[in-house]
Amino acid sequence: MRHRAGNLVTRDLPASRRWRARAMMAGLSVPVLSACQGVQSALSPGGRDAAEILDLGVALFLGAAIIFVGVMALTVWAVVARPDRFPGARAWVIGGGAVFPIVVLSVLQVYEFALARGLVTPSGERPLRIDMRGLMWWWEVRYPGEEPYSGAPFATANELVIPVGRPVEVVVTTADVIHSVWVPGLAGKQDMIPGHVNRLTLRADRPGIYRGQCAEFCGAQHALMAFYVVAEPPDRFERWLERQRSPAPAPENALLAGGRSAFLRYGCGACHTVRGTPAAGTVGPDLTHVGGRLSLAAGTLPNTAGAFADWITASQHLKPENGMPSFDVMDGDTARAIALWLESLE
Ligand code: CUA
Repeated sequence: MRHRAGNLVTRDLPASRRWRARAMMAGLSVPVLSACQGVQSALSPGGRDAAEILDLGVALFLGAAIIFVGVMALTVWAVVARPDRFPGARAWVIGGGAVFPIVVLSVLQVYEFALARGLVTPSGERPLRIDMRGLMWWWEVRYPGEEPYSGAPFATANELVIPVGRPVEVVVTTADVIHSVWVPGLAGKQDMIPGHVNRLTLRADRPGIYRGQCAEFCGAQHALMAFYVVAEPPDRFERWLERQRSPAPAPENALLAGGRSAFLRYGCGACHTVRGTPAAGTVGPDLTHVGGRLSLAAGTLPNTAGAFADWITASQHLKPENGMPSFDVMDGDTARAIALWLESLE
């Protein structure tokens, strides 16, 4: 199953928003996503958690705005009114300076605690567990294969595929520094702290693609540490799971077979796993079904053979200091064959 512009990306979007999805795929994400609507916005919630956080935000903003206007009005009144015509000055100081803030902040505190408690408690159903580990600068994603979707565990990268309508518990850890997982359209932030295990619960109530971003400065390429959450109807999600559990597809022609041989010959398997081949490295992302993902290098490039070839030969130019060396000694035909083979791994 391929999550690409042309099917899932644009399938559930109204026409007016399709150009955004396509622009995102073309790597033009930054200016587009700064808009209030869209794939990475806390203002267009795709599930209960994000909707409740939005409600809290709106309540805080409106409350603060009302109080601000009230305080400014009183200030003007106090300045223009003569002190002898300003009644109950002492009562204003005690009431407005102490009683009012204590009451308002206490009410807000109770509201926020209740809401936060609901956010960390998955609703009734057993959640789907996904393990997510931050690394400089990508995300390792593991499906441990527990109930209710028991089966062989597998790893993927920079993408969480989840079933619509079911709670998901993301167990977050880090391999190096502090990162923070944030998918504004689905949930609040959760930090990845060295030596600590944190949990993030979320649920998507409508299918679609939600973009996430590392929300804690974690080094030179922090800005290029994005990921996607793809919420699928349950039947499509189960088909995706089945596909991910299977080994990489066999090369369909001599060109792709040549790409696979070159991948192994250049030692790519020392860092990457491609199940179904001798490549079993665990330093970099699992590439078994990399061709079916939305992006390359944690949202840095679109998932195309051209981008694969660019990444293989110039990764240090595209994302300096990332863990993969640039294979700039590789000839063009070899890079192209490897790129086409990787792109075919859906
Ligand atoms: Cu990882 Cu910022």
